[in-house]
Amino acid sequence: MIFKENGGKKMAKVEIGYYDLADITISKSCLLVSKGKGKVNMMALDWKSIGELWSYPVVTVAVAPSRYTYSLLNENPEFTLNVPSPQIESAISIAGSYSGRNTDKIKMAGLTLKESSHISVPMIEEAMISYECKIIHTAESGSICSHRLYFGEILAVYADEDLVKKRKIK
Ligand SMILES: Cc1cc2nc3c(=O)[nH]c(=O)nc-3n(C[C@H](O)[C@H](O)[C@H](O)COP(=O)(O)O)c2cc1C
Repeated sequence: MIFKENGGKKMAKVEIGYYDLADITISKSCLLVSKGKGKVNMMALDWKSIGELWSYPVVTVAVAPSRYTYSLLNENPEFTLNVPSPQIESAISIAGSYSGRNTDKIKMAGLTLKESSHISVPMIEEAMISYECKIIHTAESGSICSHRLYFGEILAVYADEDLVKKRKIK
């Protein structure tokens, strides 16, 4: 169990099953966190899917070659996918309109990084759901839209305890 600060009140985060809250994740704009050469960056991400590939639980994200995130994912094949809680939804516009090449967007959005359990890329403490993923495969999206698809094996998922209780998962 890990903890986050929320307006002075400690709130617990608990580990959940890979697909437990996939319906929420799929319906939301997310924050994709990557890390290379010691630099951590986040970008807004809508294009994703959650499923299974070769018996691995997988989150697939589509990232355009022009993104700084693209070079970080190619350098260090790991990411966290973070679903913002309603309190931090404004971070999406920061993450989606600036580039980590010249801006520390995490600092700008006032977010906190939390060490992951299985990978070197941190998660966002204020997120309501976070996925730790290790990239096991990539593919080019082809002529529809020029993105690289990164297939990340889900190693762990954490969610706010209140949300977990509300959904009666545990
Ligand atoms: C709501 C929203 C969703 C987005 N979804 C994607 C996406 O799925 N894939 C992508 O490559 N860019 C997406 N973008 C654009 C990137 O977030 C944006 O270009 C960002 O500035 C890239 O940051 P970076 O250069 O630090 O990686 C989205 C932007 C917004 C606002």
